[in-house]
Amino acid sequence: MTSHEIRKAFLDFFKSKGHLIVPSAPLVAKNDPTLMFNNSGMAQFKDFFLGNGNPPSKRIADTQKCLRVSGKHNDLEDVGFDTYHHTMFEMLGNWSFGDYFKKEALEWSWELLTEVYKLPKDRIYVSVFEGSEEDGVPFDQEAFDIWKGLIGDENRIILGNKKDNFWEMGDTGPCGPCSEIHIDLRDQEEIDKIGGKELVNNDHPQVIEIWNNVFMQFERKADKSLVSLPAKHVDTGMGFERLCMAIQGKKSNYDTDVFQNTIQVIEQMSGKKYGENGTLSSNSYVDVAMRVIADHIRAVAFTIADGQLPSNAKAGYVIRRILRRAVRYGYSYLGFNEPFLVKLVPVLAEQFADVFPELKAQLDFVARVIEEEEKSFLRTLETGLRKLDDIFEQAKTANSTTISGEIVFELSDTFGFPSDLTALIAREKGLRIDEEGFQKALQEQKARSRKDSAKEATDWVELNEGNDFEFVGYDEVSCEAQILKYRKVKTKAGEEYHIVLDRTPFYAEMGGQVGDTGHLSIGNHSINIKDTKKENDLFIHISTDKNLDEILQDANTVVAHINEERRDKIRTNHTVTHLMLAAMRKVLGTHIVQKGSFQDDAVTRFDFSHFAKVTDEELGKIEDIVNEKIRENIALETKVNIPIADAIAMGATATFGEKYGDFVRVVIFDPKFSVELCGGTHASSTGKIGLFKFISEGSVAAGVRRVEAMTGEKAISVINEQLSINNQLKELLRGQDLIKSVETLLAEKANLQKKVEALENEKLQELKNELARTTESINGINVITAKVNVPSADALKQLCFDLKNKVGNFYGVLGAEISGKPQIAVIIDENVMKEKNLHAGNIVKELAKEMKGGGGGQPYFATAGGSDVGGLERAIEKGKSFI
Ligand code: ALA
Repeated sequence: MTSHEIRKAFLDFFKSKGHLIVPSAPLVAKNDPTLMFNNSGMAQFKDFFLGNGNPPSKRIADTQKCLRVSGKHNDLEDVGFDTYHHTMFEMLGNWSFGDYFKKEALEWSWELLTEVYKLPKDRIYVSVFEGSEEDGVPFDQEAFDIWKGLIGDENRIILGNKKDNFWEMGDTGPCGPCSEIHIDLRDQEEIDKIGGKELVNNDHPQVIEIWNNVFMQFERKADKSLVSLPAKHVDTGMGFERLCMAIQGKKSNYDTDVFQNTIQVIEQMSGKKYGENGTLSSNSYVDVAMRVIADHIRAVAFTIADGQLPSNAKAGYVIRRILRRAVRYGYSYLGFNEPFLVKLVPVLAEQFADVFPELKAQLDFVARVIEEEEKSFLRTLETGLRKLDDIFEQAKTANSTTISGEIVFELSDTFGFPSDLTALIAREKGLRIDEEGFQKALQEQKARSRKDSAKEATDWVELNEGNDFEFVGYDEVSCEAQILKYRKVKTKAGEEYHIVLDRTPFYAEMGGQVGDTGHLSIGNHSINIKDTKKENDLFIHISTDKNLDEILQDANTVVAHINEERRDKIRTNHTVTHLMLAAMRKVLGTHIVQKGSFQDDAVTRFDFSHFAKVTDEELGKIEDIVNEKIRENIALETKVNIPIADAIAMGATATFGEKYGDFVRVVIFDPKFSVELCGGTHASSTGKIGLFKFISEGSVAAGVRRVEAMTGEKAISVINEQLSINNQLKELLRGQDLIKSVETLLAEKANLQKKVEALENEKLQELKNELARTTESINGINVITAKVNVPSADALKQLCFDLKNKVGNFYGVLGAEISGKPQIAVIIDENVMKEKNLHAGNIVKELAKEMKGGGGGQPYFATAGGSDVGGLERAIEKGKSFI
């Protein structure tokens, strides 16, 4: 079976068992403070397990793009060195939300593996949870009995501990006992030597876990306790690449058709062959490099396609580091010193066009971003290699044989040099690295990044049952509500309260639109709300007011009010963003795709894919279209609960990397002009915007431009400010035609400058002649030392050289006060320099000390500056003493 057929068979199988097939969520996790990237199939369904929101079906299956490179699940350092770990991988999964449980889940796993995929039954081992006293969870007898019935052989059931058989999404969140399915892919003669059972969970590359059935029953709270979930669920995850290896009879994931296309292109580009010493050889760095590259390019390309650009912070930095790791391997072991990852992007785009079409749809953009990153890193890489040389040199001078762990870590973190490379190069020079120190620095960074990605949250205080709430803010600015729950959260700035209501007019920050501010009235109290954020599927009202516990605990009814004036401006800016995108696509082309957006009450900021500067003329055309649409005063039309396919068929613009439900909200301003999938709040008609004005255009990253614009009063005040500057200038220049007046001014200035230069030159000649007359002969050398009056350092230099030419056999020390600062120059004829063994650079350094400054230069000419004008005369005098 090809990998396409294997994937399809999985989805078809679960469809036949009544499952709804859904698309993969984007790789970058949104609205979840505990998660940076989606690291398992269940991440997008987390809320359904916790009881917030309802799934579109009680049975769901899909293939999910996952990334395990940060937080609790992190495999990055293993990738390349073995045959079955990846940064990005596909997780096939099926879920029951309070529907079927252990029996069906395990029976279907067995049926699919042995009857559809026809994997040999006697090569399969399963594990069940042995129980944990600490958590009060018993041995999973039920799973054991089901497996015994299916396999008929107790010997192939293994009892596993908490580490292997109790699955947790993160430090907090849904979890439960699990049952893993392992397969033994070794040759028979190996199996005859040692049975597979002993190798399960022992990091053997051919005795591996392929599928995990988690029985979600608990939620892990921040205090580490387990609380039963409202219902029992099934969450399964099967490693697609490993499954392909098992079905295709390979010994490495990289030998399957999932990776072979990419590896073949890498072979062609490098002229090197993969797996010359057998495909399992992890000693060959050519093979390691090809595996690293084939793996990493998938993670990088799909994450960028899902809207995350490489950057220096958080998720963007993780992607940058993965890309650099790949470039470094290509550079060191495959001889690539020009961008090469970029050439693999089209291969992936084609291969995954049917299952993850977002890459093919943005091929040019993704390729461009990757190419720029590669180019800039290749430049850094050479610097890094040079730095490595310096470090080796220093170690040698210090008679040390060890490179410190911190330095190794810095090289890996900043330049993307994995420790093994540093170790390898060090070994060639007879040095070693401090591996322990490196591991320590690495662990410290991991702890830091875990802290970065997870905010410290405490448990909720539940006041009312349920998590369902209604957002009334499309139509209302205030409403009565009940508090569902609240919690106190520690932040860098202190503490804040998070409050969840059953009804709210507050819009939570989403899709670029900032969250609402306002207040909650509870009896006589008024609680200030400074922001509203979405966390998973909840709207969190955030207050930094102090000591709210008592008020919140006793609250009955709350009246929630938003800051209406602020919201009015925000929604105007959001509406204009839709008009602007539609106009941009008309003026610049349909390749314009949103890459980021932000709207508050002052501005709309919009990032989009485009490869050239947007010219003033183009900006003018976009402004004209938008302002025309504003004058047309088009009424807002929203359609809710539209099946996503129908919305797309209507021509609605969607954003890559956003997760949309099956039913969406469509915002329309004239069906022929702007139709977008959008959950934001909008002006009731375009006339409310008043006026639209761009205020800036620039680049944010390779292939991504940013514009900022203002609307209404703000736009008018920007224009008024410009007009007022115009008027003031006209008055100053006493001319109506500003451009002409400035041109005349510039011409006059150039003219004057020429005259000034000619006069200065003349003066300099006179000064030269005057000084020449003061020449003293000391020890047979013509010496001039003087404080002179010159306008610039250049003039001082000119004077020195002119005197040297005129006088001959010359030693000169000239000082001047230039713009209030002392400046000194020493000039020496070459024969004097040699004869008296003098060095102008060294002399000037000495002189600089007299005027609290520093300097240097050549042996025949050097200059210095300082901060103490009073010392200038002393410095000149001292200059004489060298002769
Ligand atoms: N969520 C489970 C896992 O990732 C299936 O292993």
